[in-house]
Amino acid sequence: MMQRIHALVLGGGILAGAFSGSMALAEGPGDLVGDRAVGKQLSGQCRTCHGAQGFAQIPIAPHIGGEPASYIAAQLAAFRDGAREHEMMSIVARNLTDQQIADLAAWYAGHQVEVTMAADAAAAPEACVACHGANGLHQLPEAPNLAGETNIYIDTQLKAFRSGKRQHDIMSGIAAEMTDAEIRAVADWYAAIKVTITQVD
Ligand code: HEC
Ligand code: HEC
Repeated sequence: MMQRIHALVLGGGILAGAFSGSMALAEGPGDLVGDRAVGKQLSGQCRTCHGAQGFAQIPIAPHIGGEPASYIAAQLAAFRDGAREHEMMSIVARNLTDQQIADLAAWYAGHQVEVTMAADAAAAPEACVACHGANGLHQLPEAPNLAGETNIYIDTQLKAFRSGKRQHDIMSGIAAEMTDAEIRAVADWYAAIKVTITQVD
């Protein structure tokens, strides 16, 4: 999958939508069909920080409502398996089964996201829009939304990719080239987009 993204990027652009619905992780929770009703029940453990519908309640947590299910599942599995580490999430994810991850991903992915632009979409960071959208909404099922995430969260993640604490084929290389000032500028730009997440039961 990642090779395919690279090929498309090298080819001069991303064919957004070419991936829609076709993504399944090579193995693990991404292969399972999530049950949203079970996911809703399980999300009781997540609400203090991510809200019932995935709208973050604390500045260091991201909005996860309306993210692609494949992305949510992949991140939960990464926290569980230690590939991504965080003092809160590593503990939360530690005992989740693949099925529970699929259920939680199905619940959170199913909510409706709307954005209101604070700036002209034409001014969106050029290096990011192919995958994260000019409005901060994902263009690929393996890329997260950035719209309305706090600048602290975006800044932290880009620096984690840059330092190697968090690793990803595409993002590690992109972040490696960025200065602190550039990171701050893109973080502020995406953070300024206003996001509303409406619960869909
Ligand atoms: C005590 C607060 C807390 C709780 C409870 C919590 N989270 Fe998190 N979550 C966080 C924080 C903080 C981060 C950001 C981690 C980082 O900086 O890498 C995060 C990150 C995530 C991410 C990664 C999103 C992204 O955009 O990369 C997912 C997915 C997620 N949480 C899902 C869940 C689910 C599902 C639950 C419940 C089973 C849950 N979280 C419970 C605080 C929490
Ligand atoms: C070719 C596609 C692509 C491009 C271009 C790209 N990204 Fe990403 N980005 C991704 C993918 C895929 C992920 C998910 C990484 C993972 O699974 O850990 C991601 C993750 C992120 C995250 C973590 C968000 C979260 O919720 O945890 C941030 C922040 C981010 N990208 C910012 C940027 C910025 C800023 C730019 C432009 C300078 C950029 N990205 C360009 C594909 C891309």
